[in-house]
Formats: sequence, structure tokens, C-alpha cells
Amino acid sequence: MEAAWLSPRVRRVPDDLVISAEELAGVEAFYRSRPELRATPLHHLASLAAELGVGELLLKDESSRFGLNAFKILGVSYAFHRAMASHVAGDSPVVACASAGNHGRAVARAARELGWSVRIYLPAGTAPARVEAIAGEGADVTVTDVGYEASIRQVVLDAEREGWLVISDTSWPGYDEVPRWIMAGYTWMMTEAETRWAVRPDVVIVQGGVGGLVCAGASWFARRYGVERPFFIAAEPAAAPCLLESAKAGEPVVAEEHQTIMACLKCAEISPVIWPVLADAVDAVVAIGDERVEWAMRRLAKPAPGEPAVVSGGSGACSLGALQAIMTHDTFGAVRAAAGLGLTSRVLVVNTEGATDPALYRSVVGG
Ligand SMILES: Cc1ncc(COP(=O)(O)O)c(C=O)c1O
Repeated sequence: MEAAWLSPRVRRVPDDLVISAEELAGVEAFYRSRPELRATPLHHLASLAAELGVGELLLKDESSRFGLNAFKILGVSYAFHRAMASHVAGDSPVVACASAGNHGRAVARAARELGWSVRIYLPAGTAPARVEAIAGEGADVTVTDVGYEASIRQVVLDAEREGWLVISDTSWPGYDEVPRWIMAGYTWMMTEAETRWAVRPDVVIVQGGVGGLVCAGASWFARRYGVERPFFIAAEPAAAPCLLESAKAGEPVVAEEHQTIMACLKCAEISPVIWPVLADAVDAVVAIGDERVEWAMRRLAKPAPGEPAVVSGGSGACSLGALQAIMTHDTFGAVRAAAGLGLTSRVLVVNTEGATDPALYRSVVGG
């Protein structure tokens, strides 16, 4: 069921922002030294803004990030750089991870570029196109017979036995260095966007699976703008509301999960390392139904005159779907009011992936 959580401490800037200022400086130095890695577009969608009843709508479009069709390579490239610089990786390691698809493909691509071997574990039921895309990067792919969280446990056990280096985008007790590097890498997306907007947005909506990108975004905005930061909203599927349930409970809890077209956001547990940011630098969490995302995928594919067509997958369209839900549905009225959303608002959403599951994309958008 769709639901919302509103923080009692709106626009707080906590001491612990999870990603350190030094790490952010490291990310800037790394990506500024790689100008061949081109920025993704920031679209200004004027007609869509008017339709939804907001003043300005900015969409950061990650559907073609560094030659892949999802944002995840931003975090993975930086994490590989850090792993090499801190000698965690050794000379020619075997790297491994479990993934719903996009993180695994990014790890496989980055490993291939370095000539490293790579093992990717995918949960049962992963779309065949995702399996093929990762195998196409030269990875050794295992589709487990269990879900996402249990696949992580499986890869960790196998990695311990075999001596593989785990490059996970989620954390667990005793393992948070690599996920912090990955989240730090994601912040480059915000730095890029900032060079393209005239005035900073006053409401930001970012979708979450385990919450890595949410943490990166909320942390970056809080560090950059302090108490003047935008109102920050995390969005996720109502079918797997781990951010919402954890925020409501006041501590990380395990959520029930069901089928959703937001396959990469179907997580029962948050990454525990993000907790201080979720608790104190996120102002609201909204859990939305698949139909919101279907609307967003179609609307982006068939734009109004003057707007670009944008390819957006099930998880990619979540933040735009959430904006539509917030603007139109009573469940989200308190969030709409607290965010001050209306005709003068400047809203930033992120399209985090393109058609990573082409069969799903065709079934929703047609063609
Ligand atoms: C397309 C897409 N969007 C958003 C996310 C959410 O990222 P996180 O799990 O860090 O919250 C993912 C995660 O895999 C993803 O693949």
C-alpha cells in the first residue's frame, strides 16, 4: 500500500553525513582528472512541470552513463580507484558481488577494463536480459535460487572461501568501507547537475533500493548548502518499503517485499551504514505503486513538443512517479505541504536507468 513518512526534523543538517568532506574532495579530483568521462544531461521539462503543478522540473538523466544504461558505474569506478590506491585489491584480484543487475553490470565492466576476473551473483527471477548483459561484459554469472539479501550472504561466504574481493554497494556490520566509496562516487552526479542549473532546486526526490543513492544525494546537498539545503525526499516501491519502515521504526528494520516492476529497488533491508543520513538528513520517504512508475515511463517516452524523449526503466522512473503521486494523491498531502510543493517550486528528480529490462520496457511503453 502507498504510504509516506515525514520527518519531525525538517531540513536538519546532522553531524554525521556518512560521506566525509575528504572523500567528496577525492571524488572531485578523480572525476576532474577524467574529462573523457562525459557528464549526463540535465533536462528542463517545462510542460511536464506545468502538468504536475510545479514551477520547474529538472531531470538528471543517467540512462547513458559512461556507455552503460544506469548510474551505478559512477560509484563502482571510484571504488575501484580507491581499492587500488589503498592496496586493498592486490595485483590482479578476482572481484565479486551480488546485485539486482545494474551494480553487477557496472562491476563487471570496470573489472573487464582492468583485466580482472569477476563473479556476479544475481537473485532468482532476474530478467534474462540482465543476466545476458552482465555475461556479455565477460563476467562469470550465477543466478542463485534465493532473493537479493540471501544472494549477498551467499557471495560473501564464497568470497571468504575463495579469496575474492567483494565490491558491494550495500553494507553490513564490519563491511562498510567499499559501500562508502561507492556512495561517494554517486555524488559526482550532483556536482555535474549543479553546473547546469541556474538556481538550486528546493525539492529533490531520489529513489532508493538499499538507500545508497539516497544517502549520497542527501549527504551532498546537506554538506553543500547546510540549513539552506533543499527538502529531500526518498522514493521507493510500496512493494519493498525498507526505507519507509526503517524511518518509521526509528531504526533499520526488515520490510516485507513483493513483486514490483521496480526490480532494482526491491530490497527488504537498508544498507545499515546510511542510517544517520536517513534518520536526520532525509525529510520524507514515500512508497509508491507500480502504476505511478508506468505513467512516468510512458510520459518520458512520449514527451510534449519541445521536450526530449527520455528512456526510463522501472526503477529509473521511480522519482518522477513519486512526484506525480505527491502532487495528486491525498496519502502524500502532508509531504506536499511540508515540502512547500507548488507553482513556484524547483524540483529535481533522477532517471537512474534506461531500458535495462527491454521486455518490461516494451510491455509498459509499447513499440
Ligand atoms: C536503476 C537503479 N536506481 C536506483 C537504485 C537504488 O540504489 P541503492 O540501492 O543504492 O538505493 C538502483 C540500485 O541498484 C538501481 O539499479
